[in-house]
Amino acid sequence: MTTSSKLLGQTLAARYRLDREVGRGGMATVFLDHDLKHDRPVALKAMREEIAITLGVDRFLQEIGIAARLQHPHILPLFDSGEVGGVLYYVMPYVEGETLRGRLTRERQLPVEEACAIARQIAGALACAHSQGVIHRDIKPENILLSAGVAVVADFGIAKAVTVATVDTSAGMAVGTPAYMSPEQASGEVVDGRSDEYALACLLFEMLTGGPPQGGFHGRRPPRCEDPGHHLGDLGGLHRPRQWRILRPRRKRVERRGAGHRGV
Ligand SMILES: Nc1ncnc2c1ncn2[C@@H]1O[C@H](COP(=O)(O)OP(=O)(O)OP(=O)(O)O)[C@@H](O)[C@H]1O
Ligand SMILES: [Mg+2]
Repeated sequence: MTTSSKLLGQTLAARYRLDREVGRGGMATVFLDHDLKHDRPVALKAMREEIAITLGVDRFLQEIGIAARLQHPHILPLFDSGEVGGVLYYVMPYVEGETLRGRLTRERQLPVEEACAIARQIAGALACAHSQGVIHRDIKPENILLSAGVAVVADFGIAKAVTVATVDTSAGMAVGTPAYMSPEQASGEVVDGRSDEYALACLLFEMLTGGPPQGGFHGRRPPRCEDPGHHLGDLGGLHRPRQWRILRPRRKRVERRGAGHRGV
């Protein structure tokens, strides 16, 4: 544990008892804590110190606050947020289960109906966020938490906060994950909800076939499974209209993507 994490633990000791580290990403470390006031387990995410320096505390907490107003059964809520000794943190429910990444690492592919059910839940979460003008910008298996068959989307607001910092300071911090990133996000254009839906199409493709799609899907119709150069895998076994609904939000041209994944 770093000195700053220790300070964080000590400063918040009256409110949270740190139990153990549960995971680490590129920007933060996540701890299982016990919320003493409400007697419940929580996940406390401590951002790397550079984040506070680059973003500024107020800007980060403002972006987190916007995302915190989202209320949806498939969006992980926010309990608390703040800054201690230059470390930004936020507190959310602890999800007993695993990430979709963990599940895919273990099983590689999921049954079609289960994969589509997860995608529909994520699509519902995205529709709620998009209707309030919030774009996730980093939909990927690591940010989907699974518990007893229910999927929740984590980290709403984080990628936006880091993007704001990048634009404001030219810090060049990487936001988004290449395998799931829409062409418009990759080229730094202004993005809307369809960029998240593009990422969800990549994620659903991965759940069904065992890997994210290679290269682009630019065609007017879903590629046939026997087409050379397309790695459709098990998607080829689905009816064409369903292939179409899965792949269409991944078209290169934003205006041709259609209506997301709620009907997959
Ligand atoms: N609310 C939570 N409940 C339980 N475990 C969590 C929770 N949030 C995160 N985790 C665990 O902590 C790990 C690290 O999460 P974190 O968001 O810091 O990184 P990431 O999403 O894997 O990558 P990135 O740095 O790109 O965001 C996750 O992979 C997950 O295993
Ligand atoms: Mg995450």
